[in-house]
Amino acid sequence: MYKIASIGGDGIGPEIVVEGKKVLEAAGEKYNFDIQWTDFDIGADRYLATKQLVTEDDLKELKKFKAIYFGSIGDERVKPGILEKGILLALRFHFDQYVNLRPIKLLKGVETPLAGKGPKEIDFVVVRENTEDFYVGIGSRFKKHQKIELDVVRDIYNVKFGLDVTSDAEEIAYQIGVITREGSRRVQTYAFDLAMQRKKKLTSVDKANVLSDVYGLWRDVFNENAKKYPEVTTEFNFVDAVTMWFVKNPEWFDVVVTPNMFGDIITDLGAMIQGGLGLAPGGNINPKGTSMFEPIHGSAPKYKGMDVANPIATIWAGSILLDHLGEHKAAAGIVKAIEKSIKDGVVTKDLGGKAGTAKAGSYIAECVKKGK
Ligand code: IPM
Ligand code: MN
Repeated sequence: MYKIASIGGDGIGPEIVVEGKKVLEAAGEKYNFDIQWTDFDIGADRYLATKQLVTEDDLKELKKFKAIYFGSIGDERVKPGILEKGILLALRFHFDQYVNLRPIKLLKGVETPLAGKGPKEIDFVVVRENTEDFYVGIGSRFKKHQKIELDVVRDIYNVKFGLDVTSDAEEIAYQIGVITREGSRRVQTYAFDLAMQRKKKLTSVDKANVLSDVYGLWRDVFNENAKKYPEVTTEFNFVDAVTMWFVKNPEWFDVVVTPNMFGDIITDLGAMIQGGLGLAPGGNINPKGTSMFEPIHGSAPKYKGMDVANPIATIWAGSILLDHLGEHKAAAGIVKAIEKSIKDGVVTKDLGGKAGTAKAGSYIAECVKKGK
């Protein structure tokens, strides 16, 4: 029996999570386990009604779970950034989910925009650092002659960040990226371990030629880590170049490890390579704590409640969730069932099919039960 928390969130989030749950329950029937769901009402509606994003109580309750199944966040009625930072990033940071695992895998039967490439060429994993870099939320904006004394100070590892400045410029904004040795070490170790289970090739992505302090440290730690894994072939790629190579030679990559912000950017590119955002899942993992699994796409508010959203990214994220809980056969069974639904053409409009969200989800659930 697994106890799993679920947060539907905003826009299409709730409806795609319903499909995900269907499929995970089908996997439970087939592979002999039960799931007990606990739903959390977190998102724009509650925020608009109560001004609450994630409460202390939510965090206390969520902490009891090893896995959270998450839909999506974002709503047109709320200024951009509030829900994203106040809910999604707050959960990732609070639970110290330092690995953002994003497979870039072209499923059988899906078309990629890359000419001449198929499932054999497109099968790698991006391990995105998920708690540091330019995502730490240290920054500010100020206008001419506005004296700022160490504003927006944040204390990380006992270092106080902030600027003490009086400015002549019309308006200034700054944002600080923070990389730590331990933060780099732990996510890179996860990536090296993953590379050992795969093709033993690991690419590190950074921009150490320009942002040489933060990514210089990242590289030093990578080189130290690499010594502990002599069997793993390693390489460095600058982030600008890696976007080119993802398109030109995706088959070169097996495991890619990257600081937070570049990971955000290159996984949207990855999503397109694997057939679109409707097909791209992710896991926010704290190997020893509460992890969270979600599609990498947003809440697509204009499709809310229309039964058109593709549930596959969320269903696949559910497969990663089960894999994380140790249900490896069930996890593989779900990916196989997704491929079967694609082969049979029981898919949503974005993939050229006629099925609605619910029908596409139910079909995958049936395939899981039949072991197809
Ligand atoms: C993602 C999203 C988030 C991120 C946003 C919504 C905070 O783009 O999961 O990739 O930047 O990490
Ligand atoms: Mn993103």
